[in-house]
Amino acid sequence: MSATTLPNTTLLEAYQAMTPGSARLTEKARGLFPSGLTHDSRHFDPYPLYITHGQGPVKWDVDGNRYVDYFGGHGSLILGHHHPAVTAAVHAAYDRGTHFGAGHEAEIRWAELITAMIPSAERVRFTNSGTEATLMALRLARAYTGRQKIVHFRGHFHGWHDHVSSGYSNHFDGSPTVGVLTGIADNVLMADPNDVAGIDRLFSDHKDIAAVILEPTGASFGKMPIETSFLRHLRDLTKQAGTILIFDEVVTGFRVSPGGLQKVIGVTPDMTTLAKILSGGLPGGAVVGRKDIFDLLDFQVMKAQGKEKVGHQGTFNANPVSAAAGIATLEILSTTDACEKANAYGAALRAKMNEVLEDEHVKWAVHGSYSGMHIFTNPDGEDIVPSRFDAVSFVPRMINKPRHDGMPVKVRMGLLVNGVDVNTGPSGTISATHGEEEMGLTVDAFQATIRALKREGAIG
Ligand SMILES: Cc1ncc(COP(=O)(O)O)c(C=O)c1O
Repeated sequence: MSATTLPNTTLLEAYQAMTPGSARLTEKARGLFPSGLTHDSRHFDPYPLYITHGQGPVKWDVDGNRYVDYFGGHGSLILGHHHPAVTAAVHAAYDRGTHFGAGHEAEIRWAELITAMIPSAERVRFTNSGTEATLMALRLARAYTGRQKIVHFRGHFHGWHDHVSSGYSNHFDGSPTVGVLTGIADNVLMADPNDVAGIDRLFSDHKDIAAVILEPTGASFGKMPIETSFLRHLRDLTKQAGTILIFDEVVTGFRVSPGGLQKVIGVTPDMTTLAKILSGGLPGGAVVGRKDIFDLLDFQVMKAQGKEKVGHQGTFNANPVSAAAGIATLEILSTTDACEKANAYGAALRAKMNEVLEDEHVKWAVHGSYSGMHIFTNPDGEDIVPSRFDAVSFVPRMINKPRHDGMPVKVRMGLLVNGVDVNTGPSGTISATHGEEEMGLTVDAFQATIRALKREGAIG
């Protein structure tokens, strides 16, 4: 089924005709989960897809439709779906047992790989998710500095816990989101990315800043890019102020390079949060960083210093199955050109999609960095040239836009109808298994989508 072959069919009608199984499952799910969903980012009108399996760069839904996949397990699948080495490692670990309530050799090998790959990783603490990793990083920073306040950049996502829930998609003034204590929100200072004067002002007004946390390529994997010069400025500023700098590399770690963004630009934060690729597409996370900060978690060191230890539990921390998937993945990434391959595909894909926009005379842009792809649908109708789009200058305008306005959903639907899945950004992450065939399918799907949206009058 394709929008190009059915000129009288709207994208919505085409989507509904090809996905009756997903519609049926959504009906069941709505009786069990709020909105029928298990993650807010999977929200999609009129209903989301239900997937049965994936292989490399593609996946299939319950109706047998095949999609080139850029949702990519929320960015965790840099080696694509069902990679043979990762799958074999998971099977072998599973066959030995899933939980020993004890240390095991795999957690040591996993941490050795992380400390060898990530420059800031002198010590490692495993968690169960990226959310837990940023929660622990902020607690450690507060305990280490004895200060209360953290700086959070507008638009940046660090998981869903109370300290970082304002300012991602709403509450840009830092007021608490519903259900969050005012006392927590009061200690979170909101800042604008790339605004040197603004961050300098914040530091001169507040002498009690424990930590600055940010996504180092910019919000949503560079959808709202951060300039490298700003990161260098933050490094200097935080060092002078005795503030802990935390790079949230949950997405970028092991993706933009085997050593994350910090390795590429040579800026080493005090702590880094990791997840997704870290555990090879299985649940897991880690906070890593300076030994003197991690001493706060150490029974012996804290006893010797007569200080209270920072507590940390977690039933499934460093579980053997996630560790096996993580080891298999990190070994491949550290010994092959997988990251570079995904990055090269990203650059080529963005260029080709911009050619489509220019051929079709549509003033949108496909932008991003490394293995990311973002479709800017130009809600204010600005005069832009797709191939020369400067996303940095648009960051202030992007931040305050509601996330799920109409056009991104329409674009995603058009791509789905034409066999490509992106998230509702609309954005995508690329794996090392995406190749020429997927590139061709994606560019054709994008062109068919643009033409269908023109036919429907959604774009002029
Ligand atoms: C930059 C960033 N930080 C933290 C998180 C939270 O990670 P998790 O979903 O594993 O809790 C995410 C998740 O998408 C993320 O993109």
